[in-house]
Amino acid sequence: MISSHSFSSKNDLDNKKIELFTIRNKSGIQVSISNYGGIITAIEIPIGLKMVNTVLGFKSYEDYRSKDYLNNYAYLGAIIGRYANRINNSKFKINSYDCHLSKNEGKNHLHGGIEGFDKKIWTAKIISQNKLELSYLSQHMEEGYPGNLQVSVKYELTERNELKIKFNAKTDKKTIVNLTQHPYFNLNGNKSIKNHKLKIYSNRILKKKTDNSVCNCILDIKDTIFDFSTNKTIGANFNEFDDYDHCYIFDNKNKSPKLMAELSSDDSPIKVQILSTYPSMQLYAGKHLNISKPVKLDSHSGIAIEPQFYPNGPNFKKDRHAYLSPKETYREEIIYRFKIGK
Ligand code: BGC
Repeated sequence: MISSHSFSSKNDLDNKKIELFTIRNKSGIQVSISNYGGIITAIEIPIGLKMVNTVLGFKSYEDYRSKDYLNNYAYLGAIIGRYANRINNSKFKINSYDCHLSKNEGKNHLHGGIEGFDKKIWTAKIISQNKLELSYLSQHMEEGYPGNLQVSVKYELTERNELKIKFNAKTDKKTIVNLTQHPYFNLNGNKSIKNHKLKIYSNRILKKKTDNSVCNCILDIKDTIFDFSTNKTIGANFNEFDDYDHCYIFDNKNKSPKLMAELSSDDSPIKVQILSTYPSMQLYAGKHLNISKPVKLDSHSGIAIEPQFYPNGPNFKKDRHAYLSPKETYREEIIYRFKIGK
């Protein structure tokens, strides 16, 4: 079942309505998504007589426009595009021509630039009783990207307690695309996720530079503090290192969604599995969250697990990532699968 209501105190902005859509399944799981930024504001799961919200989120459009929140660049729950994560030096090549993107993190381009897909008002369409589609036309040269890009993101809540997110895009000129969703999970409502457990089905990460962009280099991290293959407590090494913000890489050749990670907590009966068709996944343990209004969110109050193409993919030497030409259709998928009970 899908219901909707206005998500803003103003009726519309530039003649566009800002709404919140809530999809419910038969087990009573509720997913709320706004057409502002495609933000997933809540994923609520019934536990006993209570609804437990498993992601960080706010109650209105105005909350997501508050200065305090925007100044923290947290991208809570939103669709990220046209290119998720960083493009080093805000530069990439199409054929042999340099393309320059807007700079919004030092000299680098982060999460689609100054006004990325997370701040756009998307057109919403209810497709069926468990499917919502958001679409957006990103104009040629928006934030410096070539090509008019027509994007659609479909959300489906299944009776198997999965939220399936399907990204689809077409361009009229060769461009680059890397779309993801940015929810921060917190399964037990505690202030910090440091006691959550995380299993990651990969032992390789991309090496990072000091400015957070990535190098053209893959590291084997078996038996290091980055190794989560053993279902480790996230905060196990926080006294040495608490800034997990790294991209894990996977062999995902056959394009069907593959299990990448599992998040659980001893203080919660809820577990979430993250599956996707993408070749990599950014793990961000939320160290820099620091919001006092509309809701106080401190460091590590949620963890973002974001399947995507390689950060800086178009400049990755061996195997360039994430180009899209007019003859192709961009099709990628992320699944959050919820399991309830120990
Ligand atoms: C990035 C972090 C960034 C966060 C919020 C994550 O995807 O990897 O570096 O701080 O998003 O912007």
